[in-house]
Amino acid sequence: MTDSLLSPERVPDPCVLVIFGASGDLARRKLVPAIWYLQRQGRLPEQFALVGVARSPMSRDDFRSRLREALEEFVGATGEPVDRFLERVDYVSGDPGDPEFYQRLGSRLQEIDTERDTGGNRCFYCSVPPQVYLTIIEQLGVAGLHRQGQGNPGWVRIIVEKPFGHDLDSARDLNRSIHAVFDEQQIFRIDHYLGKETVQNILVFRLANSIFEPLWNRRYVDHVQITAAEAVGVEHRAGYYDRSGALRDMIQNHLMQVMSVVAMEPPSAFDAESVRLEKLKVLKAIRPISVGEVDSFAVRAQYTSGEFNGAPVPGYREEQDVPEDSRTETYAAVEFTLDNWRWQGVPFYVRTGKRMPRRASAITMQFKQPPHLIFPGGKDMRPSTLTIRIQPDEGIALSFSGKTPGPDVNLGTVEMDFCYQDAFGGRSPEAYETLLLDCLLGDGTLFADSGWIEKSWELLMPVHEAWNAASATTVPIYAAGSWGPIEAESLFDRDWREWACP
Ligand code: BG6
Repeated sequence: MTDSLLSPERVPDPCVLVIFGASGDLARRKLVPAIWYLQRQGRLPEQFALVGVARSPMSRDDFRSRLREALEEFVGATGEPVDRFLERVDYVSGDPGDPEFYQRLGSRLQEIDTERDTGGNRCFYCSVPPQVYLTIIEQLGVAGLHRQGQGNPGWVRIIVEKPFGHDLDSARDLNRSIHAVFDEQQIFRIDHYLGKETVQNILVFRLANSIFEPLWNRRYVDHVQITAAEAVGVEHRAGYYDRSGALRDMIQNHLMQVMSVVAMEPPSAFDAESVRLEKLKVLKAIRPISVGEVDSFAVRAQYTSGEFNGAPVPGYREEQDVPEDSRTETYAAVEFTLDNWRWQGVPFYVRTGKRMPRRASAITMQFKQPPHLIFPGGKDMRPSTLTIRIQPDEGIALSFSGKTPGPDVNLGTVEMDFCYQDAFGGRSPEAYETLLLDCLLGDGTLFADSGWIEKSWELLMPVHEAWNAASATTVPIYAAGSWGPIEAESLFDRDWREWACP
């Protein structure tokens, strides 16, 4: 059904992508498949090389065999195209804290520049636990591998995975240490939610159509909900998750990014500087929550045993490696108030939880009821809503009232639904494809900058403080397989507001 307006295909300069943590899960499941698809679509330059880096001593052929297995498992690719892809792949093993290793890496990169004509352009991807980022960054600096322009004719960029810090102080320290080596323009802080097609589409929906933007404000919108519900529990990640919790894991980054995109003013251009400026302005407009007010604006909870798909599932504290007295939240909901002209009086409710009834991330914008209702039964009418389904079943639905057929004027709720798959067909790129390509192109529009990161931590620190207080010993609970704790209802201070189940 669709016509599409294509922007000219962008292909990066010749370059080398170096992945630290190349034997890890993220590289296998997401990064290598993303690079594969980029190559298949002709989005990588002819002169491109991938260098895997990890501690495990392994030959280049062994590493290639691992990638071959990953491609078969996650992409279903086999045969000659895979052989050709793997010709571009190399491997260097070493300890990230060992300066000698960076000398070897540097020499290998120079050889690749000569063999493949990659011009000194390199992108380092830190797909490693946060405690290792800093070592890598410092050592890259010591070895001079961060340099662009002084002895290296090419550009150098660094991609840092989340979590970016554990609190405001550590995020500031991390920014300071990275800035001691790299300029802000060289740093690409990944938030994979920003690479999702549906999140990028929020801006297109708002700003490429003149019919929606006029509604996007306090005059028409009653409140906004942003939900990321996950069906999975903590899985095998308790070591990380129990120190993090839902607020750090999902809200400080992914969901506050989504909120910034929903609430921002139209930027003057679709470029990194303009978009980042507007997103930061959203965070600056958020009314700070003091430690004493946290109970009125934030709710946390932990899942207990319950049922999922008809089968019993354990509670969080019974999961592998979770301490039995853990107070870590697996559910968090926060109400944000924005003090600006566009959103004054329109609360933004943001929530996330593990072990909820299904996987569903969505933005629901509920509109105000008409000022005067002339139809019988009109006061029971459901308010109109706009739902942007981030995943799964990506799409946008507008629900509104209509007259049901018949001689009487009765109202019913109807829905207009746009479904990505039906409308555009084909395969939607994974977030990592978009983000990797953008980084290789030097386009930081979909990445977080240092100011945004620090502001987001600053806003949430009182919530962490209140939840960590020695006196806050009781963590509310919700049964696995439910939509969250009963306490979350208390965030709504108007009768007509309730959590949407996307
Ligand atoms: C990650 C979190 O950043 O995002 C995980 O660490 C979470 O806990 C995941 O499961 C959710 O991502 P997605 O794309 O599946 O919604």
